[in-house]
Amino acid sequence: MINNKNILITGGAGFIGSTISNKLMDDGYKIIILDNLSVGKRENLTKNAYKLYKLDMIKDNIEVVFEKEHITHCIHLAAQTSVSESSKNPFYDAQMNIFSSIKLLELCKKYDIRKFIAASTAAVYGTPQYLPIDENHSVNPISPYGLSKLTMENYIKMSGVPYIIFRFSNTYGEKQNCSQGSGVITIFHNAMLHNDDVKIYGDGNQIRDFISVDDISNICIKMLDSDLKNETFNFSSNQGITINELFNKMKKIYDYKKFPVYLPARKEEIRDSILSNKKIMDKFPNFKYKNFEECIQKLKSSAKGNK
Ligand SMILES: NC(=O)c1ccc[n+]([C@@H]2O[C@H](COP(=O)([O-])OP(=O)(O)OC[C@H]3O[C@@H](n4cnc5c(N)ncnc54)[C@H](O)[C@@H]3O)[C@@H](O)[C@H]2O)c1
Repeated sequence: MINNKNILITGGAGFIGSTISNKLMDDGYKIIILDNLSVGKRENLTKNAYKLYKLDMIKDNIEVVFEKEHITHCIHLAAQTSVSESSKNPFYDAQMNIFSSIKLLELCKKYDIRKFIAASTAAVYGTPQYLPIDENHSVNPISPYGLSKLTMENYIKMSGVPYIIFRFSNTYGEKQNCSQGSGVITIFHNAMLHNDDVKIYGDGNQIRDFISVDDISNICIKMLDSDLKNETFNFSSNQGITINELFNKMKKIYDYKKFPVYLPARKEEIRDSILSNKKIMDKFPNFKYKNFEECIQKLKSSAKGNK
């Protein structure tokens, strides 16, 4: 069932990538990782059953990976992932999210890859016209990041390579790097663990939906094994929660006693966002989401275990 797939995971040492890589290795898949380790870490990978090519997708010749490995499937996660960095350096954002994705796609085409699964984002939609946002919603990104991901999507669709595009909502879980100011659950987690102040931008009534990295791994694995192709799906919990509600839920789990510190709202932030998961759930009606509180509990315990 599984041994006829050699899976290239770009960004496979990062937050989402290492979670998927570790799960696929548990299931016996052959995993080839391409990562420049700028953010990703070898320590994120819990098994040794993988090959890691430490290459930079922008500067290096990445064809060597296709020449040496018989790649059959590709999960493309490597990216410039920060909305604020994309505004500060849109050129780099485009180099990474557009041009290196084209470079990869050309190779996937040349080497006859059977399926290309790519990570896109809710940021392609821009300001929501209605909630929850489904895949028919207009796409009007308001950040270079959203624009570069949307452009990547369009190149994928034009490439002729069989593809699945996932637009993920805000993802949380172990190994998330929040040094660039995104990843509110991880930011709250770090603050609450160390009894630091929790900062909330705006009034805290802005709505988000959060998806666990374990759910993302599971849906990607289901997609590898399915016959679906040439489709774009949102992937989200479909459950809106305000930042104040999030704070209160996490406060109980972490036994955190302080009040949040409210700061002015950040201009580049979308007020409310919930992605509809109806299209993907119609395809996988038996998909079981992880329980939110249990995931937060697991996140808390993992940090304690690391100390
Ligand atoms: N985390 C989220 O909330 C979220 C939401 C929507 C979409 N996404 C998308 O999911 C994907 C994975 O995100 P993540 O949160 O795991 O981020 P991450 O930063 O942890 O992972 C990205 C990986 O790409 C690698 N990388 C970056 N530039 C590279 C380059 N030039 N060459 C080779 N490798 C390079 C990094 O070292 C890192 O391991 C990204 O495409 C991101 O845009 C993430």
